[in-house]
Amino acid sequence: MTPCHVSGMSTAPKQPKSRLSVPQIRGLKGTRPVVALTAYTAPMARLLDEQVDVLLVGDSLGMVLYGLPSTLQVTLEDMIRHGRAVVNASAHALSVVDMPFGSYQASPQVAFDAAARIMRETACSAVKLEGGEEMAETIAFLTARGIPVMAHIGLKPQHVHSTGGYRYQGRSEEERTAIRRDALAIEKAGAFSVVMECVEQELAMEISRELAIPTIGIGSGPGCDGQVVVTEDMLGLFERTPKFIAPLADLRGVIQSAAQTYAHEVRNGVYPAATHAFSRKRDD
Ligand code: KIV
Repeated sequence: MTPCHVSGMSTAPKQPKSRLSVPQIRGLKGTRPVVALTAYTAPMARLLDEQVDVLLVGDSLGMVLYGLPSTLQVTLEDMIRHGRAVVNASAHALSVVDMPFGSYQASPQVAFDAAARIMRETACSAVKLEGGEEMAETIAFLTARGIPVMAHIGLKPQHVHSTGGYRYQGRSEEERTAIRRDALAIEKAGAFSVVMECVEQELAMEISRELAIPTIGIGSGPGCDGQVVVTEDMLGLFERTPKFIAPLADLRGVIQSAAQTYAHEVRNGVYPAATHAFSRKRDD
């Protein structure tokens, strides 16, 4: 990239002023909803930072940024690269980085090594991992060693092959009991908050009342203690929008129309005008 292509935004890391802490996010329970959005890049983190409580560097970046078929192909290196960009470009929101598939399931020690690497190399404040009861021992191991953990229960995208798809959770009594057990287990293990993805909304509300930690819903209804969505879904960047998203912009339309105008102007010699280039007469 030549200097001509660098946009007007500063690339210098922002100095932390008053970044929200893990105890502050936990303390929001019962006071006001926790506001979270995903961010994968420095420009997006800069735009969102002041508006939200939590910036989540989600492994959804595999699908959103890289066009991968699922989150399963995302690597630890991917998460570290994007996590570092988001942390460097933000100063207010709590930064949470997802642990990718395969980096934490084998054992608590394996999870600790991966989480420590994420925290050391990105300077994020916490990690997120998918799983309930089966991950309780790992969550306890990490939190006892100074790694704050946000858990993720309900629909777990890293389990898409074993569950057979992205379906909402809590349809049968058996499923509801298991989700409730997961929520209680991760709280007991020391998670400071929990993402509940596509959990049937009555159940999500009941669990939110039962837990002392904030529940952050995505597609789980208004009864959660906070909400998170994939920012690009909120911005209307894709042809298909999940049922639980109410897009607040039509970025897809804006981008297509801008590209159309650009192509038209270049083809017809409208852009660039002489004023869009350098001149020794004017610029020296
Ligand atoms: O990966 C992600 O972006 C997430 C959110 C959708 C909660 O886990």
